[in-house]
Amino acid sequence: MVVGVAGGIAAYKACELVRRFSESGHDVTVVPTSAALQFVGASTWAALSGKAVAADVWSAVHEVPHVRIGQEADLVVVAPATADLLAKAAHGLADDLLTNTLLTARCPVVFAPAMHTEMWEHAATQANVATLRGRGALVIEPAEGRLTGKDTGKGRLPEPSEIFEVCTQVMARSREHAGRDLVDLVGHRVVVSAGGTREYLDPVRFLGNRSSGLQGYALARAAAARGAEVTLIAANTALADPAGVTVVRVETTAQLRTEVLAASAQADAVVMAAAPADFRPTDVSDAKIKKSDDGSSPAITLTQNPDILRELSGDRLRAGQVIVGFAAETGDSTGSVLDLARAKLARKGCDLLVVNDVSGGAVFGSPDNEAVILAADGSAVEVPRGSKAALAHVIWDQIARRFTP
Ligand code: CTP
Repeated sequence: MVVGVAGGIAAYKACELVRRFSESGHDVTVVPTSAALQFVGASTWAALSGKAVAADVWSAVHEVPHVRIGQEADLVVVAPATADLLAKAAHGLADDLLTNTLLTARCPVVFAPAMHTEMWEHAATQANVATLRGRGALVIEPAEGRLTGKDTGKGRLPEPSEIFEVCTQVMARSREHAGRDLVDLVGHRVVVSAGGTREYLDPVRFLGNRSSGLQGYALARAAAARGAEVTLIAANTALADPAGVTVVRVETTAQLRTEVLAASAQADAVVMAAAPADFRPTDVSDAKIKKSDDGSSPAITLTQNPDILRELSGDRLRAGQVIVGFAAETGDSTGSVLDLARAKLARKGCDLLVVNDVSGGAVFGSPDNEAVILAADGSAVEVPRGSKAALAHVIWDQIARRFTP
């Protein structure tokens, strides 16, 4: 695989990316631009990758590196991709080793742009990004946050660990789905909710639940790796922002509802992987509730929260929108896990319901999951035990089939 590095200050973060690829057994060739070498020297890249490094096409000419490196790659990721590099790639310029490599590569290509907000938002850059996406490249949205100097905004390079995740998923999908469109969600806006809400009793205490947010984050990450424009509404999670995903943080079910409904107005699919609390304390004390001297305990009265999934399914904020719910069931005296799930699917009115059997309590916080995906049309897809990422991709496969062309 090839890690291309363009000339931005975020080049130093690519060191961590190269290290992760090398440590996980990949044969990495680093191809910096000459501008990138102003930030991080060739010896650093050579040491991290275990290979000689060149930016121009004049080293080891007898090996024809300007053709061979691209032809042999199973993935080319450019991180950071500057405005200049994106422009050159979009227009097919080939004036150094990296741009030659991009023209000769026939494998998946991932660009992780990083630049100042103005440069990213400029019509020229946006047109170049659209051109590259139109040709099947995955261009990850930059993250928001601190940029070089004192300014903040959209344009940061996502965390190397998250770029690594995206690349790993792209490579896995390209092995499994050779010849199929890897970025099949390009042009689709999707919303995913994740985590568990907190319902406050007073400024320091809340009612919460055990949802880790891992499955929702896996869904957001998988959708971004397939080219979707993803908004993740995250309730009380402590997980790294997935690369290319807009993350909106919330605490309570009321906040989750507001943000999900706002984002869903433009979305082709909404996946409610969050665990919103069904009830909230009717009264929230402004001050911390104190113990009383007589040993009596305060009674907590609860009020039912709105059911966001039901509301989304009933109102359908956008024509053709695919709505997906999750159900954690144990089965009881009235029915099996699947009986209860079918009834829930009908009650909620969503298109798909991802059903977890939580009898053993195994799902919470675990990297693995198994599920049955029930559809409103009566079909069911069983997903055997595997990673939450693998389940996420099967869920997106089911959603993508339901998008109207
Ligand atoms: N959900 C929601 N709003 C709520 C509660 C749940 O949108 N206030 C969504 C969850 O995100 C999930 C699905 O509904 O996708 C299933 O939640 P669950 O709590 O299992 O459903 P309930 O209808 O509350 O069923 P139960 O009586 O089993 O708790």
